[in-house]
Amino acid sequence: MVKICCIGAGYVGGPTMAVIALKCPKIEVVVVDISVSRITAWNSDQLPIYEPGLEDVVKECRGRNLFFSTDVEKHVAEADIVFVSVNTPTKTTGLGAGKAADLTYWESAARMIADVSKSDKIVVEKSTVPVKTAEAIEKILTHNSKGIKYQILSNPEFLAEGTAIQDLFNPDRVLIGGRETPEGLKAVQSLKEVYAQWVPEDQILTTNLWSAELSKLAANAFLAQRISSVNAMSALCEATGADVTEVAYAVGKDTRIGSKFLNASVGFGGSCFQKDILNLVYICECNGLPEVAEYWKQVIKVNDYQKTRFVNRVVASMFNTVSNKKIAVLGFAFKKDTGDTRETPAIDVCKGLLGDKARLSIYDPQVTEDQIQRDLTMKKFDWDHPIHLQPTSPTTVKQVSVVWDAYEATKDAHAVCILTEWDEFKKLDYKRIFDNMQKPAFVFDGRNIVNADELRQIGFIVYSIGKPLDPWLKDMPAVA
Ligand code: UDX
Ligand code: UDX
Repeated sequence: MVKICCIGAGYVGGPTMAVIALKCPKIEVVVVDISVSRITAWNSDQLPIYEPGLEDVVKECRGRNLFFSTDVEKHVAEADIVFVSVNTPTKTTGLGAGKAADLTYWESAARMIADVSKSDKIVVEKSTVPVKTAEAIEKILTHNSKGIKYQILSNPEFLAEGTAIQDLFNPDRVLIGGRETPEGLKAVQSLKEVYAQWVPEDQILTTNLWSAELSKLAANAFLAQRISSVNAMSALCEATGADVTEVAYAVGKDTRIGSKFLNASVGFGGSCFQKDILNLVYICECNGLPEVAEYWKQVIKVNDYQKTRFVNRVVASMFNTVSNKKIAVLGFAFKKDTGDTRETPAIDVCKGLLGDKARLSIYDPQVTEDQIQRDLTMKKFDWDHPIHLQPTSPTTVKQVSVVWDAYEATKDAHAVCILTEWDEFKKLDYKRIFDNMQKPAFVFDGRNIVNADELRQIGFIVYSIGKPLDPWLKDMPAVA
């Protein structure tokens, strides 16, 4: 029986391993983590992450061939294949600060594998890592090998949160990179056999190590670039009276471009896009390619511009001040169907409004008060460390209250900002909300989910990203 161990029971390691266990009943899969609270949660009825369909998969396999444990060394020692899916934060100090990946956790995982191994192993990179990380890991392992043979593979994960289980069941492709030596090719074949249990073979791509590592960064950069492109257009649409939804639809009808991932928004978030692009930028700079670095940097600049533009629009529309005004924030997660807030645009938007002294009442169906307070007080990039090593917030932001109902959040508010596209926000009773708000009552829709015409009929002043402006907003231009 093949044994798999995965170091890191997070958003990537947890769902990926659960699906491997489901699809490969003959393989024993153990997910290990240094965080006791995370492992306790994986072993309970209250899983540590919210992901549609995940609970069913875990319930079916847990205790059968899927296990969660904090006994990292034991399970790594026993495994034939070790996946590594630990955090790779952006460095905040020293060489490459603000761009390069900090490989502290990766390096310590590699050293630990070398320490405890007594048999040959395949080590698989699952976390997103800068190109050539595999080479560094290979060096650590071979220089500490005690005669044990290691093969390093890069097997980047392409799942998107909120649809992780579906993405894992039916991946567009599985990518496996390895050394082009007989041992390397054999290791690639072993991992291919795992995925081939449920993924058609022609969708399992094999490449060299560096191509696999770079493909992951490139895919995320291309996806983020599409959003920044449509968001850049949204600003032009507002200035000219075009409708970004119509423009995106017309553009996306071209089969060479395609219709997906063209929704204008308040900005992209999530643990990967910004971090991976910063990484790409750093790699380009290190390789003497400043023009290429500049090109990709612009994707992040437009994303930051979009968030600032949204805040400016809110403040400018409300007589240039939100001081002491109650603003309801609907949605805090970086997208719907997840409780994940890493790099969510809501953080920057809320900080911007707080900077103008607003009082915020925040509601998100999946995000806790503790998480929101931590996010609003944490420094940039601090989020990407194991939970128990993250700074806790000693003080809470007093102007922020977190409530468990959209009607409570909007009561007596001057404005509503929709920052996540949760389905339930489409179905709210906006007449009831309007009746309980201060007047004039504003809705700023950062995800284009409400029917602006219907809301205007009720009496709201409505701003939708990239849509023809309400006459009120035309008279109150947002100057950056
Ligand atoms: C993704 C990416 O794959 C990764 O590159 C990025 O740095 C973070 O986002 P994800 O699974 O979403 O990974 O991250 P997270 O949910 O933070 O999970 C990482 C897990 O690794 C944590 O549970 C952490 O406790 C664990 N960990 C970290 C270890 O078990 N050992 C370590 O030494 C460090
Ligand atoms: C992304 C990649 O899609 C995935 O392949 C990779 O493995 C990890 O990074 P994820 O960050 O989980 O996945 O979610 P994704 O659906 O890509 O959304 C990222 C951000 O872009 C979200 O904030 C989302 O709201 C935003 N977005 C997405 C838009 O603003 N408009 C769109 O059209 C699509």
